[in-house]
Amino acid sequence: MNKTQRTKNFALCCMVLLLSTLSQAQEHVNGQLWMDTDGKHINAHGGNILKYGNTYYWYGENRPYNGGSTEAGIAVYSSANLKSWKNEGVALATSMKAGHDIERGCIMERPKVLYNKKTKKFVMLFHLELKGRGYEAARVGFAVSDSPTGPFQFLRSQRIHANQWPFDMDEEDIKAAKQTDASQWKEWWNDAWRKEVNKGMYLWRDMKGGQMSRDMTVYVDDDGKAYHITSSQENLTLLVSELTDDYLDFTGKYNMVAPGGQNEAPCIFKHKGTYWLICSGCTGWSPNEARMFSAKSIWGPWKQHPTPFVGTATGYNNMPANKTFGAQGTFIYQMNGKPVFMADIWNPRHLSQSLHLWLPIEFDKEGTPVIRWVDKW
Ligand code: GAL
Repeated sequence: MNKTQRTKNFALCCMVLLLSTLSQAQEHVNGQLWMDTDGKHINAHGGNILKYGNTYYWYGENRPYNGGSTEAGIAVYSSANLKSWKNEGVALATSMKAGHDIERGCIMERPKVLYNKKTKKFVMLFHLELKGRGYEAARVGFAVSDSPTGPFQFLRSQRIHANQWPFDMDEEDIKAAKQTDASQWKEWWNDAWRKEVNKGMYLWRDMKGGQMSRDMTVYVDDDGKAYHITSSQENLTLLVSELTDDYLDFTGKYNMVAPGGQNEAPCIFKHKGTYWLICSGCTGWSPNEARMFSAKSIWGPWKQHPTPFVGTATGYNNMPANKTFGAQGTFIYQMNGKPVFMADIWNPRHLSQSLHLWLPIEFDKEGTPVIRWVDKW
């Protein structure tokens, strides 16, 4: 081999090595850590993806390695191809001011960012728990930014729909709800208690101070109207609420979905005119069987279906479908017109190390969503 050939071979080897490193960097294996372009696990949990221009933005909970509260805030990553993710830092930072709603040490969960075409602003909604108060505040937070990577400016946090009844409850329904009394039920889960929950017992209990809002998502419909879907009433009942045109407030129009059904982690998408809502049950960080609902209108009526998950997580301890492969959903986004289910495999000991799981949503012959395990992206 002469010198020129040796140089050529060396260049070729370098090229092959570079290409294989690049393709490795871009590959995400479900059930394993997902690295960003700095080689660090993507610390964006319970969040969503927003496409703006030709760039995808991934927002999520930036979690510390130890502890369950929020230290930094809400993270944002960017990508041109949904594979190589660049850490863009903290989009919404916690406050160092004592007593501030988002004081460092509060709990910020399930952030979702929307782009408002009319105002040209990026709007973030998230679940907020006040510092030192566990999960009792149950508020939704609003923040806004001119740029997708922030810095987002915190606007306020609140309970929702104080002194407002769901639009689909008539006078008789309201009268029945007003006759309930949550304080008298020392024992839950019996038929008589369930009946009262269906009547709106917790709605009535929280009427004055506003309804609780914990796990949440947002959805922008084809007409640009946005909706907030949240786990309310002690995580018993979902509320669907319409947002104002600027996405910075609620219009006051809302209704209940599956009262007493204990649905959390709501994820929604529309396919051929049908809205599909995929939720989890309420078992904290531990996985459970996903629930699925469909409706022809965002206001229901919602029909319940069996879980869409089938098979086992061959790449993650063979976790079964009835445990959602060990994960809990966070968002459904459309990748080239095809819905993808985004989920977290929580690691409650080290929340920052929680894994990401993205699975394509397929449809059976009847057009019902089916979610199977795939190894990688
Ligand atoms: C889960 C919920 C998470 C977090 C966790 C706390 O059920 O989906 O967002 O709130 O409980 O235990």
